Amino acid sequence: MMRKTLSTLQAMRSKGEKIAVLTCYDASFATLLETNGVDVLLVGDSLGMVIQGRETTLPVTIEQMAYHTSCVASGAQQAFIMVDMPFGTSQVSPRETFAYAVQLMAAGAQMVKLEGGAEMAETVHFLASRGIPVCGHVGLTPQSVHQLGGYKVQGKGDAAAQKLLQDALALQGAGAGIVLMEAIPAALATEVTARLSAPTIGIGAGAGCSGQVLVIYDMLGIYPGKKARFVKDFMAGTGSVGQAVANYVAEVKAGTFPAPEHSF
Ligand code: KIV
Ligand code: NA
Repeated sequence: MMRKTLSTLQAMRSKGEKIAVLTCYDASFATLLETNGVDVLLVGDSLGMVIQGRETTLPVTIEQMAYHTSCVASGAQQAFIMVDMPFGTSQVSPRETFAYAVQLMAAGAQMVKLEGGAEMAETVHFLASRGIPVCGHVGLTPQSVHQLGGYKVQGKGDAAAQKLLQDALALQGAGAGIVLMEAIPAALATEVTARLSAPTIGIGAGAGCSGQVLVIYDMLGIYPGKKARFVKDFMAGTGSVGQAVANYVAEVKAGTFPAPEHSF
């Protein structure tokens, strides 16, 4: 089987086939995840929390992201590889962002993800028009946790919902190939998905998105601390990690995960 591309994901969105995404940080998981049907491996800067044990994603560096990207790329033959731009690498200027993104692409990324809405449109356009596919990440943007005052649901109320929709449209207009929405009301995510032609990926955004993502350690129930509402432990009642991942993929494809109890 050939490696999935952005076109594969766009075709899935057109056909209404849900896109199953999990975070991945190493070669062994990369092989296991794609063997069990995961379409997209997200090398998330969540690695700062789940691998490094930091309190936030803010200290993660471009070198660390490139290192984990090369690990994942070594283990994956078919899955599409999306990689986070860590804090500080996408906020300063389009040119600087491009130079950092080059490091991730050289390590094996097929797309970079950056946090923010309309304010990132110029940067998204700069990258996308020069060969680097971009995913825009809106809603709860963990790199802004200090500005947001905690990990809270976003897009609540008419004004915030309108702003989120405009942000998603601005990102797509600037050339973003995918829009990821985190911790927003399910009804809003469904509306944004209907208004966009690009695929949407949700986490804590309800079942109406084109695809879903979870942090691998969260869905295996091995991340200590408080479980977020949108997390489901797929390891519970399962005999193996591979089976847990296969069950996640099956539930995402069937549209049964996330259920209302995992949504806002
Ligand atoms: O870093 C990450 O894992 C992410 C996902 C949770 C969306 O950005
Ligand atoms: Na992230």
